[in-house]
Amino acid sequence: TFSSRTLRRATVLAMLLASAVPAAARDFRIAVGDGAGGTQEALGLAFIKALEEKSGGADSARLFLNGQLGDEQDTVTAAATGTLDFSILAINNITPFSPSVGTLTLPYVILSLEDAEKITQGEIGQQMVDRTVEDAGVRIIGWAYSGFRVLTNSRKPVTTVADLQGLVVRVPKNEIMIETYKSWGINPTPMAWSETFAALQQKVVDGQDNPYMTVHAMKFDEVQKYVTNIRYIFSIEPLIVSEQLFQSLSPEEQANVLAAGQFLRDQEAQIKTDLVAKGMEISDPADGEAEFIERATTTVWPKFYDSIGGKEVLNGVLASLGRPTV
Ligand code: MLT
Repeated sequence: TFSSRTLRRATVLAMLLASAVPAAARDFRIAVGDGAGGTQEALGLAFIKALEEKSGGADSARLFLNGQLGDEQDTVTAAATGTLDFSILAINNITPFSPSVGTLTLPYVILSLEDAEKITQGEIGQQMVDRTVEDAGVRIIGWAYSGFRVLTNSRKPVTTVADLQGLVVRVPKNEIMIETYKSWGINPTPMAWSETFAALQQKVVDGQDNPYMTVHAMKFDEVQKYVTNIRYIFSIEPLIVSEQLFQSLSPEEQANVLAAGQFLRDQEAQIKTDLVAKGMEISDPADGEAEFIERATTTVWPKFYDSIGGKEVLNGVLASLGRPTV
């Protein structure tokens, strides 16, 4: 199950951190972008439990949910400067600081959980980790997977690109996502994650996209009615550690920390049923999403070849997933 697997892997990391700081009890702070009940909290809680067990109660950590330690993008800067130990956040909120991980946010590149696992846990994932340390001063030490980012809105069912016209959609401050909506003919509204619920509630924006698990954890059903099962981004939510903290570990400890693996919560089916019970309506995009896919891949991919490190980086990812290169 998710929890035992998560716990096992979090235990490895916790043991190492506990042994790395033998002198004084430590109380780590973990920033979490989402509210209670999602992948991010589950990962954080498993980690804390393991840390406390392995240190015999001496060391612990606390989760600060709902962006209490700052918006997700701000926590990257805080971890880089050593004022924050850990953060659990969406990959798309790391991209502005480390463009190479943008490959994971390019529309319709990661098409399944298996794709996401294959890319993040293989050699390509390791290259992204290294570049993120260089670019952003933070190290990705674990990967969580939350499912496709579905579109929600408060105004109408959306199944075609034409339906999307006129909707005001919030996106993270992420150029790839902004350009993707532009390829679909609308100008989205870039906005910090921490401000999104209020903006939906006050109808400053009509909609947003995030995985079912996040929609549920954030109680977006209270302010959104319609869901469209678009599949342009498979959401990946890493655990990052301050590189300064990481460098305080011994080489053996570091090696084991890097082995701390995947975290997956696959409760989408149950969550969907619950959201429908709460009044949400779910639609599939028309024609197998063909128009969304065609527009996004043909116009958005070429715009980001340079920032992700060259077209060959995308081709490497596509080839390793057994898909045609561009
Ligand atoms: C965002 O939309 O800014 C993030 O993906 C939210 C999250 O981390 O769940």
